Amino acid sequence: MKIFLDTANLASIRTYNDMGIVDGITTNPSLLYKEKQSPESVMREIVELIKGPVSLEVIGTKSEEMITEAHKLVKFGKNVVVKIPMIPEGLIAVKRLRDEGIPTNVTLIFSANQAILASKAGASYVSPFIGRLDDIGQEGMVLIREIVQIFRNYNFDTQTLVASIRHPLHVIEAAKIGAEVVTLPPDILGKMIKHPLTQTGLDLFLNDWKKIDKDLLI
Ligand code: G3P
Repeated sequence: MKIFLDTANLASIRTYNDMGIVDGITTNPSLLYKEKQSPESVMREIVELIKGPVSLEVIGTKSEEMITEAHKLVKFGKNVVVKIPMIPEGLIAVKRLRDEGIPTNVTLIFSANQAILASKAGASYVSPFIGRLDDIGQEGMVLIREIVQIFRNYNFDTQTLVASIRHPLHVIEAAKIGAEVVTLPPDILGKMIKHPLTQTGLDLFLNDWKKIDKDLLI
C-alpha cells in the first residue's frame, strides 16, 4: 500500500519524508488556502521535495480551462498528477490528458458509478472521499470495497486512492481491502506511528539503564 500525505504543509511534508514513509502527496485548493502562502510557490516546492506523485488540482470547470491549467501544472515537474473534479467536463479533460500521456487523479468521487466512469475516461487514480460519506451517515469504506472489487473484476488499471481519511482505523480497513493508496492528513500519520506501550516500554528501558552500576559501564 502506498501512503500519500494529504497536505500542502511543507514542514509536515519534510518531517515525514525524512522518515521514508511518504510515497506521494495530494493537495487541493482548501489545503493550499490553509497555508496562507503563494499556492504556486508551495506547489512547486512540494513537487521538488517529493520524488513520488504529487496531485495538484485544477480550478477551472470547463474542459479547455482544465487542460490549459494541466499543461501549466505539469511543467512544475515530471511527478505531477493533475487532479480533476468528477464532473462531465472533467471527464473530457481526463480523456484528452490521457491521450497526451498526462496522469490524472479524479477527485470528489462518492459512488462506484463515478469511479467506473472516471476509470473508463482514463484516470490514473480515483479519489473516493470516505470521511465525507461517514459524515452523512453512509459508510465510506463500503464504497472502497465496491471500487476495488469492480476494478479487479475488469482489470481496470486505475488505482483507488482512499481520501478524506479521518482516523488510523480507516487506513487499516483500506489496507485489508487492498486499496492501492491512502492519502492522510499529517496528524493521522503521526497517530499511526505512536502506541502507548511503545512509549512506556521505552521509558522503562531507559530508566533501568540509568540504574546500572556506573562501574559496570565501560
Ligand atoms: O484528499 C481529500 C481530502 O483532502 C478531503 O478531506 O477531511 O476535507 O473531507 P476532508
